[in-house]
Amino acid sequence: MKFTGTDNYVATQDLMLAVNAAITLKRPLLVKGEPGTGKTMLAEEVALSLGMPLLQWHIKSTTKAQQGLYEYDAVSRLRDSQMADLDGGERVKNIENYIIKGVLWQAFTAEQPVALLIDEIDKADIEFPNDLLREIDRMEFYCYETRQLIRCRDHASNRCGALPQLEKRIAQCGDENLLRYPQLARIEEKAFYQRIT
Ligand SMILES: Nc1ncnc2c1ncn2[C@@H]1O[C@H](COP(=O)(O)OP(=O)(O)OP(=O)(O)O)[C@@H](O)[C@H]1O
Ligand SMILES: [Mg+2]
Repeated sequence: MKFTGTDNYVATQDLMLAVNAAITLKRPLLVKGEPGTGKTMLAEEVALSLGMPLLQWHIKSTTKAQQGLYEYDAVSRLRDSQMADLDGGERVKNIENYIIKGVLWQAFTAEQPVALLIDEIDKADIEFPNDLLREIDRMEFYCYETRQLIRCRDHASNRCGALPQLEKRIAQCGDENLLRYPQLARIEEKAFYQRIT
């Protein structure tokens, strides 16, 4: 599975290298750039050219990280419990019926590999990237309501030995952008990607 650009999208060698490194490692790719430079379109074109479904999560100032994992719809459950006589209350007994799966849940458990675009991440609250750091790093999270570990399919086999070193280096360098966007996988780490591809 390799991205080589498309008829609609002009991609530089560096960009293709970064995209293919992220695909190989199955790690997130953080794309930064001026407005209109093709960040959103990149995700669309990569998904299209590799035949992967594209899941999109458009971030707003009010978006919370938890919404990308799941939400528990307690209000609907309460309403259903008050009308439980109608169907014997079967639905309300199962808490899973009230768990709204977020895009990360959907992406982690999809039958086939998907591309997930978390767009306009800079619009979010400053804590937003930090709140997803562990989930994106480990590619898993826990749903307390259903007592389920939601884990990305075949993720464990994807960690290569060099990656933890890169993560450590990123953590140590204290770059301002990394404080704002600490999701690893910086495309500027070209030397690293050249070593592994
Ligand atoms: N590399 C490219 N190849 C072809 N067209 C491009 C490319 N980059 C940008 N464009 C054109 O610019 C338009 C805007 O791109 P896009 O919406 O992906 O930018 P963006 O980086 O996501 O901007 P913003 O930061 O405002 O969200 C695209 O619809 C496309 O027409
Ligand atoms: Mg965009």
